[in-house]
Amino acid sequence: KKATIIKAPFSGGQGKGGVEFGPEQLIKHGLLEEFEELGWKYTIADPLAGTDLIAQKNDPTDVYKNCKRPKMVSECCEKIYHAVSDAHAKKTLPVTIGGDHSIGMSTILAFSNAHPDGGIIWVDAHADINTASTTDSGNLHGCPVAFAMGLDEDNWPPHFAWLKQITKKVKPSQITYIGLRDVDKPEKKILKDLGIKAFSMYHVDKYGIAEVVRQAIEHVADGGKKPIHVSYDVDGIDPMYVVATGTPVRGGLTLREGLFLVEEIVNTGCLAGLDIVEVNPSLASTDTHVMDTVNTGLSIARCALGDTLL
Ligand code: ARG
Ligand code: MN
Ligand code: MN
Ligand code: MN
Repeated sequence: KKATIIKAPFSGGQGKGGVEFGPEQLIKHGLLEEFEELGWKYTIADPLAGTDLIAQKNDPTDVYKNCKRPKMVSECCEKIYHAVSDAHAKKTLPVTIGGDHSIGMSTILAFSNAHPDGGIIWVDAHADINTASTTDSGNLHGCPVAFAMGLDEDNWPPHFAWLKQITKKVKPSQITYIGLRDVDKPEKKILKDLGIKAFSMYHVDKYGIAEVVRQAIEHVADGGKKPIHVSYDVDGIDPMYVVATGTPVRGGLTLREGLFLVEEIVNTGCLAGLDIVEVNPSLASTDTHVMDTVNTGLSIARCALGDTLL
């Protein structure tokens, strides 16, 4: 059991400050000890070390049409792409700790290039599949799936040349969502046009989380025969458990539903990549709220690392 923990203290994909402290908070509160306790060897990669993230975040010239900070997002995501690709090349489990979800473009693209038959389960309140043209907010953390799929490439900010050069993009059939409840109108059209499988909170209520996860694994991984990457936005879980996140949406997964789905995926033995993103310790008014959110991130990690009583 070998992992590479990739620190991605990145906040340029959205406007709020604080999400860059996600990795250090999770580490401060015991992430590395979890790996050790659960029998994992790990190395830590810090691909953004030496990048002046503060200056880049505050650069008012870093805009392209409606997209905010395309240069910063592109440069950082390129570094994260290489770190995740290296982790796969070394046959380790890449665990990328955000930071905002824009980095998902790198993690899922690195995953699908390392495991072309693999499937991606994207746990989120949001679909994050706005294109460079459809994004209303201009925040690139709402766009990583579209970038990893190469959607609307003609309108990409020129900074994303490196990403254009990666010819094998994520295919719409390779991904499925769990937890959706705040999807923008143009995103709904994209999901429909491309036939992307998505389980919203409606489906979780109607069929139960166990059936939803079963179908998700069936769809992206042939029922558990292929490698699976989980990109976990903590806002997929209800804000009553996860307050400290940038774009909370009520009516989400319970804490147990959110953990159970990870446990089920791990039970297939196919987990081959994980992201935990959008923990923003600055967005809570009390320490208890910060710790609720940080502990949720740590619990997701524990489940992914195979913590079990049996
Ligand atoms: N759909 C909205 C947008 O495009 C919200 C995206 C939120 N994404 C996230 N990773 N939390 O801006
Ligand atoms: Mn791999
Ligand atoms: Mn989200
Ligand atoms: Mn997200």
